[in-house]
Amino acid sequence: MLADGTAVDYAETAQEALARIAAAESLDQVEALRVAFLGKQGSISALLKTLGAMSPEQRQTEGPKIHSLREAVTAGLGARKSALEQAALEQRLAAERLDLTLPAPERPQGSVHPVSQVMDELAEIFADLGFAVATGPEIEDDWHNFTALNMPESHPARAMHDTFYFPERNAEGREMLLRTHTSPVQIRTMLAEGAPLRVIAPGRVYRSDSDATHTPMFHQIEGLVIDKGIHLGHLKWTLETFLKAFFERDDIVLRLRPSYFPFTEPSVEVDTGFAFVDGRRVVGGSGDEPGHGWMELLGSGMVNRRVLEAGGLDPDEWQGFAFGVGVDRLAMLKYGMNDLRAFFDGDVRWLDHYGFGALDVPTLSSGVGTPNVGRGA
Ligand code: PHE
Repeated sequence: MLADGTAVDYAETAQEALARIAAAESLDQVEALRVAFLGKQGSISALLKTLGAMSPEQRQTEGPKIHSLREAVTAGLGARKSALEQAALEQRLAAERLDLTLPAPERPQGSVHPVSQVMDELAEIFADLGFAVATGPEIEDDWHNFTALNMPESHPARAMHDTFYFPERNAEGREMLLRTHTSPVQIRTMLAEGAPLRVIAPGRVYRSDSDATHTPMFHQIEGLVIDKGIHLGHLKWTLETFLKAFFERDDIVLRLRPSYFPFTEPSVEVDTGFAFVDGRRVVGGSGDEPGHGWMELLGSGMVNRRVLEAGGLDPDEWQGFAFGVGVDRLAMLKYGMNDLRAFFDGDVRWLDHYGFGALDVPTLSSGVGTPNVGRGA
Protein backbone atom coordinates (compact mmCIF):
# COMPACT_ATOMS: atom_id res chain seq x y z
CA MET A 1 0.00 0.00 0.00
CA LEU A 2 1.33 3.43 -0.91
CA ALA A 3 1.35 6.42 1.37
CA ASP A 4 -1.80 7.70 -0.28
CA GLY A 5 -3.53 4.44 0.59
CA THR A 6 -3.39 2.90 -2.93
CA ALA A 7 -3.04 -0.87 -2.69
CA VAL A 8 0.00 -2.37 -4.43
CA ASP A 9 -0.22 -5.69 -6.22
CA TYR A 10 3.09 -7.12 -5.12
CA ALA A 11 2.77 -10.25 -7.22
CA GLU A 12 2.28 -8.21 -10.35
CA THR A 13 5.13 -5.85 -9.45
CA ALA A 14 7.41 -8.84 -8.92
CA GLN A 15 6.41 -10.43 -12.21
CA GLU A 16 6.97 -7.23 -14.11
CA ALA A 17 10.33 -6.64 -12.49
CA LEU A 18 11.49 -10.21 -13.13
CA ALA A 19 10.41 -10.00 -16.76
CA ARG A 20 12.48 -6.85 -17.27
CA ILE A 21 15.46 -8.49 -15.59
CA ALA A 22 15.15 -11.58 -17.78
CA ALA A 23 15.15 -9.33 -20.84
CA ALA A 24 18.39 -7.57 -19.84
CA GLU A 25 21.04 -8.32 -22.44
CA SER A 26 24.16 -7.02 -20.82
CA LEU A 27 25.74 -6.62 -17.43
CA ASP A 28 25.30 -2.87 -17.81
CA GLN A 29 21.56 -3.31 -18.29
CA VAL A 30 21.37 -5.57 -15.22
CA GLU A 31 23.19 -2.92 -13.20
CA ALA A 32 20.82 -0.18 -14.47
CA LEU A 33 17.84 -2.28 -13.34
CA ARG A 34 19.41 -2.88 -9.94
CA VAL A 35 19.69 0.88 -9.49
CA ALA A 36 16.13 1.40 -10.74
CA PHE A 37 14.68 -1.14 -8.25
CA LEU A 38 17.01 -1.20 -5.29
CA GLY A 39 19.07 1.97 -5.53
CA LYS A 40 18.54 4.86 -3.15
CA GLN A 41 15.83 6.29 -5.41
CA GLY A 42 14.70 2.83 -6.55
CA SER A 43 11.04 1.83 -6.75
CA ILE A 44 11.35 -1.06 -4.30
CA SER A 45 13.41 1.08 -1.92
CA ALA A 46 10.49 3.55 -2.03
CA LEU A 47 8.07 0.79 -1.04
CA LEU A 48 10.32 -0.15 1.89
CA LYS A 49 10.24 3.43 3.07
CA THR A 50 6.38 3.36 3.24
CA LEU A 51 6.64 0.82 6.07
CA GLY A 52 7.73 3.58 8.43
CA ALA A 53 4.46 5.44 7.99
CA MET A 54 2.23 2.42 8.60
CA SER A 55 0.41 1.36 11.70
CA PRO A 56 1.92 -1.68 13.47
CA GLU A 57 -0.89 -3.94 12.17
CA GLN A 58 -0.48 -2.80 8.61
CA ARG A 59 3.26 -3.20 8.88
CA GLN A 60 2.76 -6.81 9.98
CA THR A 61 0.80 -7.70 6.86
CA GLU A 62 2.62 -5.45 4.35
CA GLY A 63 6.17 -5.87 5.68
CA PRO A 64 6.73 -9.51 4.72
CA LYS A 65 5.27 -8.90 1.24
CA ILE A 66 7.58 -5.98 0.50
CA HIS A 67 10.60 -7.87 1.85
CA SER A 68 9.87 -10.94 -0.21
CA LEU A 69 9.40 -8.72 -3.27
CA ARG A 70 12.84 -7.26 -2.61
CA GLU A 71 14.35 -10.73 -2.15
CA ALA A 72 12.78 -12.02 -5.36
CA VAL A 73 14.14 -9.06 -7.33
CA THR A 74 17.57 -9.36 -5.70
CA ALA A 75 17.74 -13.06 -6.54
CA GLY A 76 16.56 -12.39 -10.10
CA LEU A 77 19.25 -9.76 -10.64
CA GLY A 78 21.93 -12.13 -9.29
CA ALA A 79 20.78 -15.00 -11.47
CA ARG A 80 20.71 -12.88 -14.61
CA LYS A 81 24.13 -11.45 -13.85
CA SER A 82 25.78 -14.83 -13.50
CA ALA A 83 23.99 -16.17 -16.58
CA LEU A 84 25.36 -13.28 -18.63
CA GLU A 85 28.85 -13.74 -17.16
CA GLN A 86 28.80 -17.43 -17.91
CA ALA A 87 27.75 -16.77 -21.50
CA ALA A 88 30.55 -14.23 -21.93
CA LEU A 89 33.08 -16.71 -20.56
CA GLU A 90 31.90 -19.45 -22.88
CA GLN A 91 32.14 -17.13 -25.83
CA ARG A 92 35.71 -16.20 -24.87
CA LEU A 93 36.73 -19.81 -24.41
CA ALA A 94 35.35 -20.69 -27.82
CA ALA A 95 37.05 -17.72 -29.47
CA GLU A 96 40.42 -18.19 -27.78
CA ARG A 97 40.86 -21.89 -28.27
CA LEU A 98 44.47 -22.77 -29.11
CA ASP A 99 45.08 -24.73 -32.24
CA LEU A 100 48.17 -26.72 -31.36
CA THR A 101 48.46 -28.04 -34.88
CA LEU A 102 49.27 -24.57 -36.28
CA PRO A 103 52.95 -24.08 -37.20
CA ALA A 104 54.80 -21.93 -34.63
CA PRO A 105 55.49 -18.36 -35.77
CA GLU A 106 59.11 -17.86 -36.82
CA ARG A 107 61.21 -15.83 -34.46
CA PRO A 108 64.45 -14.11 -35.44
CA GLN A 109 67.33 -15.84 -33.72
CA GLY A 110 70.65 -14.29 -32.79
CA SER A 111 74.01 -15.74 -33.77
CA VAL A 112 77.42 -15.98 -32.16
CA HIS A 113 79.90 -13.39 -33.45
CA PRO A 114 82.99 -14.92 -35.11
CA VAL A 115 85.23 -13.25 -32.51
CA SER A 116 83.33 -14.93 -29.67
CA GLN A 117 83.36 -18.21 -31.57
CA VAL A 118 87.12 -18.06 -32.13
CA MET A 119 87.75 -17.10 -28.47
CA ASP A 120 85.75 -20.18 -27.45
CA GLU A 121 87.68 -22.34 -29.89
CA LEU A 122 91.00 -21.06 -28.52
CA ALA A 123 89.91 -21.61 -24.92
CA GLU A 124 88.90 -25.16 -25.87
CA ILE A 125 92.20 -25.90 -27.62
CA PHE A 126 94.32 -24.50 -24.80
CA ALA A 127 92.23 -26.14 -22.10
CA ASP A 128 93.16 -29.42 -23.77
CA LEU A 129 96.83 -28.43 -23.35
CA GLY A 130 96.29 -27.68 -19.65
CA PHE A 131 95.95 -23.88 -19.86
CA ALA A 132 93.58 -21.95 -17.60
CA VAL A 133 91.92 -18.70 -18.65
CA ALA A 134 93.09 -15.50 -16.92
CA THR A 135 91.63 -12.03 -17.25
CA GLY A 136 92.60 -8.44 -16.46
CA PRO A 137 91.02 -5.00 -16.69
CA GLU A 138 90.63 -3.15 -19.99
CA ILE A 139 91.30 0.13 -18.15
CA GLU A 140 94.88 -0.51 -17.06
CA ASP A 141 97.53 1.52 -15.29
CA ASP A 142 100.76 2.34 -17.07
CA TRP A 143 102.80 0.26 -14.63
CA HIS A 144 101.09 -3.01 -15.62
CA ASN A 145 100.73 -2.05 -19.28
CA PHE A 146 104.29 -0.74 -19.78
CA THR A 147 106.70 -0.37 -16.87
CA ALA A 148 106.43 -3.91 -15.47
CA LEU A 149 106.81 -5.20 -19.03
CA ASN A 150 110.22 -3.56 -19.28
CA MET A 151 109.01 -0.44 -21.03
CA PRO A 152 110.04 2.28 -18.59
CA GLU A 153 108.69 5.82 -18.93
CA SER A 154 109.85 7.51 -22.12
CA HIS A 155 110.83 4.13 -23.62
CA PRO A 156 110.36 4.49 -27.40
CA ALA A 157 108.33 1.25 -27.57
CA ARG A 158 105.54 3.02 -25.70
CA ALA A 159 105.03 5.20 -28.75
CA MET A 160 104.39 2.10 -30.91
CA HIS A 161 101.37 1.54 -28.72
CA ASP A 162 100.19 5.15 -28.88
CA THR A 163 96.91 4.95 -27.13
CA PHE A 164 94.01 6.35 -25.18
CA TYR A 165 94.92 7.88 -21.81
CA PHE A 166 92.50 9.05 -19.14
CA PRO A 167 92.89 12.54 -17.67
CA GLU A 168 92.85 11.22 -14.07
CA ARG A 169 95.43 9.07 -12.32
CA ASN A 170 94.47 6.19 -10.05
CA ALA A 171 94.80 6.07 -6.24
CA GLU A 172 98.46 5.03 -6.51
CA GLY A 173 99.20 8.03 -8.73
CA ARG A 174 99.60 5.86 -11.83
CA GLU A 175 98.47 7.01 -15.26
CA MET A 176 95.40 5.16 -16.53
CA LEU A 177 94.87 4.04 -20.14
CA LEU A 178 92.97 1.60 -22.28
CA ARG A 179 95.32 -1.37 -22.35
CA THR A 180 97.26 -1.65 -25.60
CA HIS A 181 97.80 -5.41 -25.38
CA THR A 182 96.86 -8.38 -23.18
CA SER A 183 100.45 -8.66 -21.87
CA PRO A 184 99.66 -6.81 -18.58
CA VAL A 185 97.67 -9.92 -17.65
CA GLN A 186 101.04 -11.73 -17.53
CA ILE A 187 102.10 -9.49 -14.65
CA ARG A 188 98.76 -9.68 -12.86
CA THR A 189 98.69 -13.47 -13.05
CA MET A 190 102.28 -13.93 -11.86
CA LEU A 191 101.65 -11.60 -8.92
CA ALA A 192 98.35 -13.26 -8.03
CA GLU A 193 99.28 -16.90 -8.54
CA GLY A 194 103.06 -17.29 -8.55
CA ALA A 195 104.67 -20.13 -10.49
CA PRO A 196 104.33 -22.56 -12.22
CA LEU A 197 101.71 -21.16 -14.60
CA ARG A 198 99.95 -22.09 -17.80
CA VAL A 199 97.38 -19.48 -18.82
CA ILE A 200 95.79 -17.80 -21.77
CA ALA A 201 94.27 -14.34 -21.47
CA PRO A 202 91.76 -13.36 -24.14
CA GLY A 203 90.34 -9.85 -24.30
CA ARG A 204 89.87 -6.45 -25.90
CA VAL A 205 92.77 -4.10 -26.50
CA TYR A 206 92.98 -0.55 -27.87
CA ARG A 207 95.33 1.46 -30.08
CA SER A 208 94.90 4.67 -32.01
CA ASP A 209 94.92 2.97 -35.39
CA SER A 210 92.19 2.87 -38.01
CA ASP A 211 92.17 1.42 -41.54
CA ALA A 212 90.99 -1.73 -43.38
CA THR A 213 93.18 -4.00 -41.26
CA HIS A 214 93.29 -1.99 -38.00
CA THR A 215 90.46 -0.89 -35.73
CA PRO A 216 90.95 1.22 -32.58
CA MET A 217 89.61 -1.73 -30.59
CA PHE A 218 90.58 -5.29 -31.40
CA HIS A 219 91.04 -8.63 -29.67
CA GLN A 220 94.12 -10.49 -28.54
CA ILE A 221 94.85 -13.67 -26.77
CA GLU A 222 97.93 -13.85 -24.60
CA GLY A 223 99.66 -17.08 -23.69
CA LEU A 224 102.01 -17.50 -20.74
CA VAL A 225 103.86 -20.56 -19.50
CA ILE A 226 106.17 -20.37 -16.48
CA ASP A 227 107.99 -23.41 -15.17
CA LYS A 228 111.49 -24.80 -14.66
CA GLY A 229 113.67 -25.45 -17.69
CA ILE A 230 111.27 -23.93 -20.22
CA HIS A 231 112.92 -23.15 -23.58
CA LEU A 232 112.10 -22.05 -27.13
CA GLY A 233 111.36 -25.64 -28.16
CA HIS A 234 108.36 -25.66 -25.83
CA LEU A 235 107.17 -22.41 -27.38
CA LYS A 236 107.46 -23.73 -30.91
CA TRP A 237 105.72 -27.03 -30.13
CA THR A 238 102.89 -25.28 -28.30
CA LEU A 239 102.29 -22.82 -31.13
CA GLU A 240 102.43 -25.53 -33.77
CA THR A 241 100.01 -27.76 -31.84
CA PHE A 242 97.61 -24.90 -31.26
CA LEU A 243 97.65 -23.73 -34.89
CA LYS A 244 97.13 -27.26 -36.23
CA ALA A 245 94.09 -27.69 -33.99
CA PHE A 246 92.76 -24.23 -34.78
CA PHE A 247 93.08 -24.43 -38.57
CA GLU A 248 92.19 -28.12 -38.51
CA ARG A 249 95.08 -29.18 -40.70
CA ASP A 250 98.33 -31.04 -40.10
CA ASP A 251 100.49 -29.24 -42.66
CA ILE A 252 100.98 -26.02 -40.69
CA VAL A 253 104.57 -24.86 -41.19
CA LEU A 254 105.99 -22.14 -38.94
CA ARG A 255 108.92 -19.84 -39.54
CA LEU A 256 110.44 -18.19 -36.49
CA ARG A 257 112.14 -14.82 -37.13
CA PRO A 258 114.25 -12.94 -34.60
CA SER A 259 112.42 -9.83 -33.45
CA TYR A 260 112.22 -7.40 -30.57
CA PHE A 261 109.74 -6.96 -27.75
CA PRO A 262 110.92 -5.31 -24.53
CA PHE A 263 109.22 -8.02 -22.45
CA THR A 264 110.76 -11.08 -24.15
CA GLU A 265 114.37 -12.08 -24.68
CA PRO A 266 114.94 -13.54 -27.19
CA SER A 267 111.87 -12.41 -29.12
CA VAL A 268 110.50 -14.21 -32.13
CA GLU A 269 107.95 -13.24 -34.67
CA VAL A 270 106.11 -16.29 -35.97
CA ASP A 271 105.14 -16.57 -39.61
CA THR A 272 103.05 -19.29 -41.15
CA GLY A 273 103.05 -20.57 -44.72
CA PHE A 274 99.93 -20.03 -46.82
CA ALA A 275 98.67 -20.59 -50.34
CA PHE A 276 96.50 -18.30 -52.45
CA VAL A 277 93.29 -20.18 -53.27
CA ASP A 278 90.72 -18.23 -55.32
CA GLY A 279 92.42 -15.01 -54.29
CA ARG A 280 92.21 -15.90 -50.62
CA ARG A 281 94.95 -16.77 -48.18
CA VAL A 282 94.62 -20.33 -46.95
CA VAL A 283 96.97 -21.31 -44.16
CA GLY A 284 99.01 -24.48 -44.69
CA GLY A 285 102.21 -25.76 -46.27
CA SER A 286 105.60 -24.06 -46.43
CA GLY A 287 105.68 -20.45 -47.55
CA ASP A 288 108.62 -21.34 -49.81
CA GLU A 289 106.57 -23.57 -52.11
CA PRO A 290 105.71 -22.08 -55.50
CA GLY A 291 102.57 -19.93 -55.29
CA HIS A 292 102.87 -19.79 -51.51
CA GLY A 293 103.98 -17.09 -49.13
CA TRP A 294 104.77 -16.41 -45.47
CA MET A 295 102.65 -14.18 -43.33
CA GLU A 296 103.22 -12.84 -39.89
CA LEU A 297 100.86 -14.42 -37.38
CA LEU A 298 101.97 -13.51 -33.89
CA GLY A 299 104.64 -12.18 -31.55
CA SER A 300 106.31 -14.27 -28.87
CA GLY A 301 109.48 -15.02 -27.00
CA MET A 302 111.07 -16.14 -23.76
CA VAL A 303 109.84 -14.03 -20.85
CA ASN A 304 112.42 -11.33 -20.04
CA ARG A 305 114.12 -11.66 -16.63
CA ARG A 306 112.94 -8.19 -15.68
CA VAL A 307 109.34 -9.18 -16.36
CA LEU A 308 109.68 -12.24 -14.13
CA GLU A 309 111.10 -9.99 -11.41
CA ALA A 310 108.23 -7.50 -11.80
CA GLY A 311 105.90 -10.50 -11.45
CA GLY A 312 107.60 -11.39 -8.14
CA LEU A 313 109.45 -14.46 -9.48
CA ASP A 314 113.15 -15.36 -9.21
CA PRO A 315 114.45 -15.50 -12.83
CA ASP A 316 117.23 -17.89 -11.83
CA GLU A 317 114.63 -20.38 -10.71
CA TRP A 318 111.81 -19.88 -13.24
CA GLN A 319 111.75 -19.50 -17.00
CA GLY A 320 108.86 -19.08 -19.37
CA PHE A 321 107.57 -18.19 -22.77
CA ALA A 322 104.79 -15.84 -23.84
CA PHE A 323 102.94 -15.07 -27.02
CA GLY A 324 100.26 -12.67 -28.20
CA VAL A 325 97.93 -13.26 -31.17
CA GLY A 326 95.27 -11.12 -32.80
CA VAL A 327 91.98 -12.98 -32.44
CA ASP A 328 90.21 -11.01 -35.18
CA ARG A 329 93.00 -11.84 -37.60
CA LEU A 330 92.76 -15.55 -36.76
CA ALA A 331 89.00 -15.39 -37.38
CA MET A 332 89.49 -13.64 -40.73
CA LEU A 333 92.03 -16.23 -41.84
CA LYS A 334 90.03 -19.25 -40.76
CA TYR A 335 86.60 -18.14 -41.92
CA GLY A 336 87.57 -16.08 -44.96
CA MET A 337 86.51 -12.53 -44.12
CA ASN A 338 88.56 -9.71 -45.59
CA ASP A 339 87.52 -6.43 -43.98
CA LEU A 340 88.21 -6.15 -40.27
CA ARG A 341 85.96 -3.10 -39.91
CA ALA A 342 82.88 -5.18 -40.77
CA PHE A 343 83.50 -7.11 -37.51
CA PHE A 344 82.40 -4.14 -35.46
CA ASP A 345 79.79 -2.47 -37.68
CA GLY A 346 76.96 -4.46 -36.11
CA ASP A 347 75.38 -5.18 -39.51
CA VAL A 348 72.89 -7.99 -38.99
CA ARG A 349 73.33 -9.22 -42.58
CA TRP A 350 77.04 -9.76 -41.92
CA LEU A 351 76.23 -11.65 -38.72
CA ASP A 352 73.66 -13.73 -40.60
CA HIS A 353 76.34 -14.76 -43.01
CA TYR A 354 79.37 -15.18 -40.77
CA GLY A 355 77.74 -15.86 -37.38
CA PHE A 356 77.56 -19.21 -35.62
CA GLY A 357 74.62 -21.04 -34.10
CA ALA A 358 74.36 -20.42 -30.37
CA LEU A 359 74.14 -24.14 -29.59
CA ASP A 360 77.06 -25.03 -31.83
CA VAL A 361 79.61 -25.14 -29.03
CA PRO A 362 83.13 -25.73 -30.31
CA THR A 363 84.78 -28.90 -29.03
CA LEU A 364 87.95 -30.65 -30.12
CA SER A 365 86.11 -33.87 -30.85
CA SER A 366 83.48 -32.30 -33.12
CA GLY A 367 85.89 -30.08 -35.04
CA VAL A 368 86.49 -26.85 -33.18
CA GLY A 369 84.49 -24.71 -35.57
CA THR A 370 81.58 -25.62 -37.79
CA PRO A 371 81.20 -22.51 -39.94
CA ASN A 372 78.04 -20.74 -40.99
CA VAL A 373 75.14 -22.20 -39.16
CA GLY A 374 73.93 -18.68 -38.56
CA ARG A 375 70.37 -17.47 -38.53
CA GLY A 376 69.84 -17.31 -42.25
CA ALA A 377 71.54 -20.60 -43.04
N1 PHE B 1 102.06 -7.84 -26.64
C1 PHE B 1 102.65 -7.96 -27.96
C2 PHE B 1 101.87 -7.08 -28.94
O1 PHE B 1 100.74 -6.73 -28.64
C3 PHE B 1 102.63 -9.39 -28.43
C4 PHE B 1 103.49 -10.29 -27.60
C5 PHE B 1 102.98 -10.95 -26.52
C6 PHE B 1 104.84 -10.47 -27.92
C7 PHE B 1 103.79 -11.78 -25.74
C8 PHE B 1 105.63 -11.30 -27.16
C9 PHE B 1 105.10 -11.96 -26.10
O2 PHE B 1 102.33 -6.78 -30.00
